[in-house]
Amino acid sequence: MTKLFLGLSALLLLLIGVAAAKDSHDHGYLSVQEQYLKDYPASSKLIDVKTQQLFPTFPQAKQGDTFRVERCISCHVPDIAIIGPQEAAKRLSADFFKYEPNAKQIADSNHLTGVHPAVITQQYYDTYGQNAVATKDGFHPYLKANSGSGASSSASTTQPGIPGFLPQFVSPAANTTGNGQPMGIDQVGCIVCHNGGRLELDQTHAHANLIINPEYAWTAGAALYYAQCVACHGNLGEGLSGPPLNNQDRLGFFNEDYYYRCIEYGMTGFEHLGSLMPNWGSISPEYTADKSVDKRPANASRQLSEDQINLLVQFIRHWENYQTLP
Ligand code: HEC
Ligand code: HEC
Ligand code: HEC
Repeated sequence: MTKLFLGLSALLLLLIGVAAAKDSHDHGYLSVQEQYLKDYPASSKLIDVKTQQLFPTFPQAKQGDTFRVERCISCHVPDIAIIGPQEAAKRLSADFFKYEPNAKQIADSNHLTGVHPAVITQQYYDTYGQNAVATKDGFHPYLKANSGSGASSSASTTQPGIPGFLPQFVSPAANTTGNGQPMGIDQVGCIVCHNGGRLELDQTHAHANLIINPEYAWTAGAALYYAQCVACHGNLGEGLSGPPLNNQDRLGFFNEDYYYRCIEYGMTGFEHLGSLMPNWGSISPEYTADKSVDKRPANASRQLSEDQINLLVQFIRHWENYQTLP
């Protein structure tokens, strides 16, 4: 018994050691935060340079006694709790255009307006929430008449639209503790809209699976999805002749690169060789046509641009709902 106890204690110490070592390597946020405190000197009197954590305040943000913490604010608006959502929203945009070297290109391909939402108003929720129907960019979502029969029906506004990316519990009406007041981005956190690696402290990992502009991904991404993918993957990504794309276990397990490859290379990539999934981009370099394996000929030319494929990856990610994340 004592031996077991000693063994377990040693293991615990080892694990703590590993965690500490990992922590000290992941200090990518320090320089970003130091720059931030230089830019906003009033803030530097109020907070230390350290890992900052955001605790979303809706009930689903708690699992038992544990909070689902977010660490995006180690780099972005680390003092959001002090400056509040309106000021934080302004700084998010200003700092992005000031410090991101490729800001212009990222902004163009994701149609960033440079205005960050500060609070989730009822109007915002109606446009992008669970019962929303996207009508931006001339896009009217529809549900296919008979799922399973291949070709899609024409657009119909009488049928319910696809659910928007904002989960129900961030709607002002659901904020019972706040008397139906709209919640700010300091209360809902970043992940409900952006996804991303919630606990990561370096930019690459924190930004893996990032949805850059959720509104655009939802409207323009859905328009592409309904035009090209719905026949095989279903109205809500539930899967038909193609596999489900809203399966949380699978979505959460693979990163963006995997989904990009699937769409770019389709049946010419090793992951989906000999399947019905079209190659929407190019032909994988390792592919050779083989009639005994191929169910269909590969597309000889690009069907979707790289930007369109990236957008589809972001759109598929919006099914990776807050509630289903670890
Ligand atoms: C290690 C620091 C760091 C962390 C942690 C971090 N970011 Fe960023 N992020 C940056 C930097 C630097 C930029 C570019 C300049 C800027 O906006 O300040 C950026 C840019 C962005 C952009 C604009 C699009 C892009 O790709 O450049 C979004 C959206 C974003 N971050 C969201 C998030 C979210 C959501 C999280 C948490 C899951 C997060 N970030 C965590 C450093 C970080
Ligand atoms: C209600 C949804 C929502 C929440 C919550 C949210 N964002 Fe955003 N974010 C957006 C949208 C929409 C855009 C695109 C804005 C635009 O058009 O420029 C965006 C863009 C950004 C950008 C790029 C700069 C810009 O303004 O375009 C950064 C950086 C960013 N978000 C970081 C964060 C961080 C960090 C948090 C958490 C503190 C957060 N966001 C919370 C919706 C949200
Ligand atoms: C003709 C039917 C068909 C169409 C149209 C189609 N797919 Fe597929 N897709 C499939 C099949 C079948 C597979 C599974 C391939 C396999 O079994 O290896 C698949 C696989 C995928 C995967 C990988 C899923 C996973 O879990 O590994 C993604 C992502 C995907 N498709 C996205 C899309 C997108 C985005 C579009 C629209 C641009 C699209 N598909 C259009 C049939 C289709």
